[in-house]
Amino acid sequence: MGFLSLAAIPFLATTAYAHPTTTGAPALSIPETAAGASIPHTNSFASFSFEPAFWVEFFGNATNPNNLTFSVLSRIHEHGGSPVIRPGGITMDSMIFDPSVGDVVRTTSPKGGVYRTTVGPGYYKSWSNFPSGTRFISTLNFGNESLEIARDLAVASVTYQPDKVTFFELGNEPTNYDRNRWKYSTDAYVAEWKEYTASIDAALNALNDTSFPKERWWASSATTDNSGLEVRPAALIPAGIDSENQVGLYSIHSYGFSTCDPKRAALATTENILNHTELVRYCDEEIYPSARAALDAGNEWNIGEFNSVSCAGRPNVTDTFAQALWVVDSELIYATRNASATHLHQGATLALQSNDQLNTPGANGSPGYSTYSMLYPRDSDLRGPARTLPSFLAQLFMAEAFAVAGTRVRALEPPMGVSSERFAAYAFYVEDRLDKLALVNMQPYYANSTGDFSVDVSLDGISGSEETDCLRVKRMTAPYVNTGNSSLSSWAGQSFPLGEPVGDMAIETVGEDNVVSVRGSEAVLVFFSDNVYGL
Ligand SMILES: *[C@@H]1O[C@H](CO)[C@@H](O)[C@H](O)[C@H]1NC(C)=O
Ligand SMILES: *[C@@H]1O[C@H](CO)[C@@H](O)[C@H](O)[C@H]1NC(C)=O
Ligand SMILES: *[C@@H]1O[C@H](CO)[C@@H](O)[C@H](O)[C@H]1NC(C)=O
Ligand SMILES: *[C@@H]1O[C@H](CO)[C@@H](O)[C@H](O)[C@H]1NC(C)=O
Ligand SMILES: *[C@@H]1O[C@H](CO)[C@@H](O)[C@H](O)[C@H]1NC(C)=O
Ligand SMILES: *[C@@H]1O[C@H](CO)[C@@H](O)[C@H](O)[C@H]1NC(C)=O
Ligand SMILES: *[C@@H]1O[C@H](CO)[C@@H](O)[C@H](O)[C@H]1NC(C)=O
Ligand SMILES: *[C@@H]1O[C@H](CO)[C@@H](O)[C@H](O)[C@H]1NC(C)=O
Ligand SMILES: *[C@@H]1O[C@H](CO)[C@@H](O)[C@H](O)[C@H]1NC(C)=O
Repeated sequence: MGFLSLAAIPFLATTAYAHPTTTGAPALSIPETAAGASIPHTNSFASFSFEPAFWVEFFGNATNPNNLTFSVLSRIHEHGGSPVIRPGGITMDSMIFDPSVGDVVRTTSPKGGVYRTTVGPGYYKSWSNFPSGTRFISTLNFGNESLEIARDLAVASVTYQPDKVTFFELGNEPTNYDRNRWKYSTDAYVAEWKEYTASIDAALNALNDTSFPKERWWASSATTDNSGLEVRPAALIPAGIDSENQVGLYSIHSYGFSTCDPKRAALATTENILNHTELVRYCDEEIYPSARAALDAGNEWNIGEFNSVSCAGRPNVTDTFAQALWVVDSELIYATRNASATHLHQGATLALQSNDQLNTPGANGSPGYSTYSMLYPRDSDLRGPARTLPSFLAQLFMAEAFAVAGTRVRALEPPMGVSSERFAAYAFYVEDRLDKLALVNMQPYYANSTGDFSVDVSLDGISGSEETDCLRVKRMTAPYVNTGNSSLSSWAGQSFPLGEPVGDMAIETVGEDNVVSVRGSEAVLVFFSDNVYGL
């Protein structure tokens, strides 16, 4: 049965339906309009954070860019995305600007502890290598407690890239600073943050560059760790952080799992990172109260830095296809909670982060690339040849999901008889009409699994945003959830082991039975219009 004939049936003009279907596959209940769905999103929703100490490894320099990383970023843009780059993370808190420096210089201990990252004009000039339209967060060092260091970074960023800076961020994860700095006092933190930002604002305004709005600061940048210093938005806002109206957005960091110590490392398993109920619980208990405080204050909020497993990921879990499913589901959970963006963190193991962590840098302190990243930017003894990881595919999924400006999204109940612990469904709306559907089956499917855990969903009676003869489907899949091989993992039939597409694009059409089948450890995007990349 074609889509047009269905749309013509009068009883479909109701707001929601979940009726028995002829095939026996359960139907989804999908509200027809966007009422109650999320805020409108941009195609920068799926953004990034890159640890600045490893800038040269990921991006090369202004004259000699890393082709693999830029190929990967070009693919994301081609598929409809436009990620914002935050060169942020722990090492931004020991980053300094030196006008005489060429390449970014990382100063480390013999074991790879990063003490300082020195950037010069070439660092900012390398921003010009990014795809057209890429915007950056100017990240400033608060760790050294030097106004001069922070101000010099801010001024340098707008001197060399006046058009690419969108926001400034002072300090990364104040929850992790020396406890003597603010002695657990939110007020002491707020006072020092305001003193610094006011001075930096004065320096920026003296440049006579009028393009920066007054509300130019990210605030908070806190983790959800219980450190004793409460600086999440829920605490900062009542403490008056925004009394001068200079906060543009509240940033929160999210790491639901960790390998920073053996106890938490034991929980960082494939089964746990693919538990949708747990991902939602973490979001709603740890993140959403602060998100709500930001929204109630009339501000935007985002996940300014996050990934699945803190302390650089978990080998054999986050470097597999499981991470691709985690990225899609996690980013969509935050999209439904009205985050303006999510900045997925990429980097390498930081030796000073914890003294009993699972990951270590490579030999002689060489970078031990994080196993949650979407790529290994260089060859390394520890991680092997430079390549993408299976989770890169999640970026193409997200790029296409939010390609149309103003897309709104909502979470749906899973079909009858399917547990939400391992299955999530999301509806996307463009101009108030259903435009896409994401179905994510997180049941771990292994080479030795005896069943394939397929969920069949009937789309009978669902009408979309535009007249189209058939519904189309793109599938993110791999032969089993724990493969680490990008050549075996595909999005719409193509794999991207070195950033370039391999194979022909496969855009499926939904058959006459109107049923979409999603195997365990697969995710699909269903399109209700002909606006499909590659069609
Ligand atoms: C990137 O590609 C260009 C053109 O093919 C080549 O000249 C350059 O050496 C490559 N750079 C790296 C870092 O591989
Ligand atoms: C950029 O990188 C290339 C290759 O590593 C190097 O030869 C060149 O000196 C670097 N340029 C600067 C300004 O550091
Ligand atoms: C910044 O702080 C770090 C960590 O305390 C320290 O190792 C480094 O020497 C300081 N850098 C400067 C320029 O003061
Ligand atoms: C900024 O503009 C003011 C007023 O027009 C002027 O007095 C000042 O010299 C300018 N400063 C710079 C750095 O151009
Ligand atoms: C999934 O997470 C929820 C919430 O933390 C927990 O109650 C449930 O036991 C977990 N399921 C599995 C299979 O581990
Ligand atoms: C990952 O799995 C491989 C193959 O099963 C095994 O040889 C290796 O020891 C595992 N690595 C870690 C860090 O668990
Ligand atoms: C998200 O924003 C929309 C539109 O303002 C609102 O209706 C919805 O309740 C918000 N959802 C959450 C979870 O905050
Ligand atoms: C199936 O494979 C997974 C992943 O390799 C392994 O953890 C599990 O023990 C295997 N199950 C059986 C029944 O052999
Ligand atoms: C990944 O899969 C491809 C295609 O089957 C194969 O040629 C390649 O050897 C595999 N790579 C590894 C590291 O196993």
